[in-house]
Amino acid sequence: MKLRPEIAALQPYRQGRPAAADAYKLSSNESPFPPLPAILDAIAGSSFNRYPDASATVLRTRLAERFGVTLDEVHTGSGSVAILQQLIQAAAGPGDEVLYAWRSFEAYPGLVTVSGATSVQVPIRADGTHDLPAMAAAITDRTRVILVCSPNNPTSAIVRTDDFTAFMAAVPDTVLVLLDEAYAEFVTDPDAVHGIPLLTTYPNLVVLRTFSKAYGLAGLRVGYAIGPAYILDAARSTAIPLSVTEPAQRAALAALDNEPQLLERVQTLIERRTRIEDALTAQGWRMPAAQGNFVWLPAGEHTTAAAEVLEAHGIVARVFHPDGIRVSVGEPESVEKLLDAAAEVVETLRETPEIAGLG
Ligand SMILES: Cc1ncc(COP(=O)(O)O)c(C=O)c1O
Repeated sequence: MKLRPEIAALQPYRQGRPAAADAYKLSSNESPFPPLPAILDAIAGSSFNRYPDASATVLRTRLAERFGVTLDEVHTGSGSVAILQQLIQAAAGPGDEVLYAWRSFEAYPGLVTVSGATSVQVPIRADGTHDLPAMAAAITDRTRVILVCSPNNPTSAIVRTDDFTAFMAAVPDTVLVLLDEAYAEFVTDPDAVHGIPLLTTYPNLVVLRTFSKAYGLAGLRVGYAIGPAYILDAARSTAIPLSVTEPAQRAALAALDNEPQLLERVQTLIERRTRIEDALTAQGWRMPAAQGNFVWLPAGEHTTAAAEVLEAHGIVARVFHPDGIRVSVGEPESVEKLLDAAAEVVETLRETPEIAGLG
């Protein structure tokens, strides 16, 4: 039978590889902490012989109160990636353009292709940041959606508030801007953009957040969007109903109930991230200030070779040849292994000083 050629040409999603028994899986930016007992208890009470509440009212009410918005200005999905898909599909189709920085979250190109629209990728700067002026210049009358990712996956670099507001001033308010804040809870830079307070200023802005990363619920699949009700209604229309399961809704509520404990874990990961960054910098690596739960090793054309060194040290990371390697901040025992591996990469490549990312 005939498939849509652009779909047949797509690579099916490839998960970060499972790690061997003695290796660390630092390839998917997951939380290394086991689920909190209180969250396990909450899930255990699920009556999942029944369908879930399709509109996730209790969870959305809780999020609406938290962010000072109405219930209809909150939308939940089975992961924020599901909401990305719903909104791209709602706003862009064949002949339309979806604009985003590249390299960024690897799901973006596929989601755009599936919608039938065309990707317009604007290269990130050498320092791993979005080139927002170049993105503004790439807007055409066919642009329907712009994806902005802060912190950017995989470079871990933030978008600054002043750059974002200057950018928004150049975006027609008929174009939907999705600010993907999957890693917001790990951000410590005071200059970083925070989308939710800006929602009252920009009628075309939607902010995407997730319980997968800081809240450690990646396997349960629950994310949310905050934005104008009529835009989120369009996402609700393109969504597959009942996708956010009751265990996921209950777990998300329990995560909010136990937020201080989860944010303590986030703090631990931030401290670990700082330790990793400081050590990598001392080794000679030059990478963007990490603001997600991951660091970026810009190994350039040596990426594949560097990833092999990491793997030999028991570190399974996400490899983006020929740009670099994204390594999640993981278990405490993984840190020394990562740093040993990174030091070996530097040693091996000393003879090739032109390597990107090494000062
Ligand atoms: C930038 C970014 N956005 C969205 C997601 C999707 O997260 P989820 O669908 O688990 O909420 C990820 C996951 O890695 C991500 O890195």
